[in-house]
Formats: sequence, C-alpha cells, structure tokens
Amino acid sequence: VEETYIMVKPDGVQRGLVGEIISRFERKGFKLSGLKLFRCPRELAEEHYKDLQSKPFFPKLIEYITSGPVVCMAWEGVGVVASARKLIGSTNPLQAEPGTIRGDLAVQTGRNVVHGSDSPENGQREIGTSYKTQVLVFQT
Ligand code: GTP
Ligand code: MG
Repeated sequence: VEETYIMVKPDGVQRGLVGEIISRFERKGFKLSGLKLFRCPRELAEEHYKDLQSKPFFPKLIEYITSGPVVCMAWEGVGVVASARKLIGSTNPLQAEPGTIRGDLAVQTGRNVVHGSDSPENGQREIGTSYKTQVLVFQT
C-alpha cells in the first residue's frame, strides 16, 4: 500500500500544532503507521532536502529544520501521497487555500509547519532515511 512521509516542522511542534495536524490526516481516513519525535541532525536534513541544495534559501532551510524537534510520521492509504499534499496546501502559505493546513495555520514559506513527500518514490526514500534511520542523539 502507498505510504507518505509527513513531518511536523519545528515551528509546528513549537506552536503546539501536532495534534491538529495528526487529526486532519486521521479524519481524512488515512492510517498512521509510524511516529517519532526527534531533533533532525544536519546531515539528515541535508539528505532529506538534497534536491534543493543549489537554491539560495538552502542554508536557511537547513537551519530551520534543525532548529528544534520535529514529529515525523509514516501514513498509508490509497493515493495518500497526492492527497496529503492537497491537505497540506501550497508551499507559500499565503497562496494555500483556506481549509488546508498551511492555508489555515501559517503565513511564511520559511515557516510552513509541515512537510509531505511529493511522490511515492520520495515517500519510500524519506521513510527509509528520515524515519527509519537510527538517530543517536535523542535530546530535543
Ligand atoms: P516540503 O513539503 O517541505 O518539501 O515543501 P514543498 O514540497 O511544498 O516545497 P519544496 O519542496 O519546493 O521546498 C521545501 C521547503 O523549502 C518549503 O516547504 C519551505 O519551507 C522551503 N522553501 C521553499 N521555497 C522557499 C523560498 O523561496 N524561501 C524560503 N525561505 N524557503 C523556501
Ligand atoms: Mg517538497
């Protein structure tokens, strides 16, 4: 069955939005198949966002993602990757539709509260790296 990797980013955790975000995926009908809280090490953040390496905002993005604990999750269901992207909304929260997570809960692209995989292949890759990787530093 299809799986996607969803990560509540440090601003989402800090603002107390974890429950709200989980609720939206639960209410939609997807199945939570894994969850953990951890502080993402720099190397893992760089691997996770490696496709954006050449972007001018890359250093700020890595700083943001490693700035505090994240909640990372594997969700499964038919069509979950594309559906989760719809539930999350556009990258820029000011362009995200009301009713989406970013449309309802965020204003800045650089503080957009949640990540969702953009393809089933990346879902597998991200669950394999960011979710399943044994992280030795658990302090949050
Ligand atoms: P993710 O689910 O986090 O992967 O977001 P996305 O798929 O909607 O967007 P993309 O993969 O293109 O970018 C990844 C993340 O980089 C975004 O969610 C933002 O946090 C950040 N980002 C993207 N574009 C910009 C930008 O122009 N400026 C800044 N500061 N951050 C950006
Ligand atoms: Mg992306």
